[in-house]
Amino acid sequence: MKITSLELTNYRNYKTAELSFHPDINLFLGENAQGKTNLLESLYVLALTRSHRTHKEKELIYFGEENAKIYGTVEKQTTTLQVEITLTNNGRKTKVNHIEQKRLADYIGKLNVILFSPEDLAIIKGSPSIRRRFLDMEISQISSIYLYDLMQYQTILKQRNAYLKQMIEQKKAGKTPDELYYEILSEQLASFGAKIIYSRLIFVEKLEKWANLLQSSISGQCEHLKLNYSSSFPLPKELTVEKIEEVFMQQLKNKRKHELFVDTNSVGPHRDDLQFFVNNINIATFGSQGQQRTTVLALKLAEIDLIHEKTGEYPLLLLDDVMSELDNKRQTQLLQTIFGKTQTFITTTILKHLNQAPIKGKILTISNGEIEIKE
Ligand SMILES: Nc1ncnc2c1ncn2[C@@H]1O[C@H](COP(=O)(O)OP(=O)(O)O)[C@@H](O)[C@H]1O
Ligand SMILES: [Mg+2]
Repeated sequence: MKITSLELTNYRNYKTAELSFHPDINLFLGENAQGKTNLLESLYVLALTRSHRTHKEKELIYFGEENAKIYGTVEKQTTTLQVEITLTNNGRKTKVNHIEQKRLADYIGKLNVILFSPEDLAIIKGSPSIRRRFLDMEISQISSIYLYDLMQYQTILKQRNAYLKQMIEQKKAGKTPDELYYEILSEQLASFGAKIIYSRLIFVEKLEKWANLLQSSISGQCEHLKLNYSSSFPLPKELTVEKIEEVFMQQLKNKRKHELFVDTNSVGPHRDDLQFFVNNINIATFGSQGQQRTTVLALKLAEIDLIHEKTGEYPLLLLDDVMSELDNKRQTQLLQTIFGKTQTFITTTILKHLNQAPIKGKILTISNGEIEIKE
């Protein structure tokens, strides 16, 4: 897929901007703090409705304004779509072909993006919540059912935790709480939770397959990559949704007495994690910076193929200040993988790092929220 045009209103430091893109490479060139990442971020937000840099809508709106709008035209193999998001201080609204999309799951996936940014090393080195977010964002892009299940799971988890607190209060006051409601919430939690775990396992398996090929290729066949999804409870031998649900339900039952003391739920996909092994060594703790970088690059590039396999379309590729961080070998790998497939957006302060790139595209020079275009 390609995004052919973009309009911004009050987005970050862009008062208004109206631009068209090249189908291959679009280079955002400019000094620091001029709005290069902001422009790239607007594409990310248009695709996923959230920024990778902040959770606060307010930060995305031009200082002192009430709302911001991002509007784009997306061309796929057989259709053209208008996608639009309006951000206000109390939320966001999305439209596809001018029709409001009430459910997030109906909107996400219309535009697919893969972002590389210097913060990506956190996927390896950061906390488990970063890896869960990585999995959730990426799977949601290719499966609206996953996003729906995830949102249901989160709602039920909150309800169940709130009810747990109530039960504890009631017990303290010498009353007998209604355990049937608690049972029902537990069953629902296990039902949605099992679907989430199952989808993640399938995704991780595919991601590993593609990423390992890339890791081998970047490392001159020296490195073998393995991914391990680590569940907060022992998974059954037979990995089906039904079996996972059964084991999950049993775990919730076992933990029940404990939960009534700590008033929080300690098992489920909201506690799971992902580990990366290069030649059987866990690289979060024992990997070199180089191995970690290679793995991140392999994961991201693998997703390009994964999304294509699942949707028949290649995602947009957003590269934020990463070319300068990659050595020649990794740059070459990147360019080979994307060549002729993805529409690519690159931010950079200097053209020098892109010597390797067969630049077929457009240069957009960015200065203080103003954009100048050279074909
Ligand atoms: N909500 C906002 N309204 C207006 N300007 C903003 C807003 N958020 C960030 N900025 C400005 O955007 C600039 C940073 O843009 P950014 O795209 O991160 O820079 P770079 O070109 O280095 O990637 C800063 O000057 C900052 O003040
Ligand atoms: Mg930047």
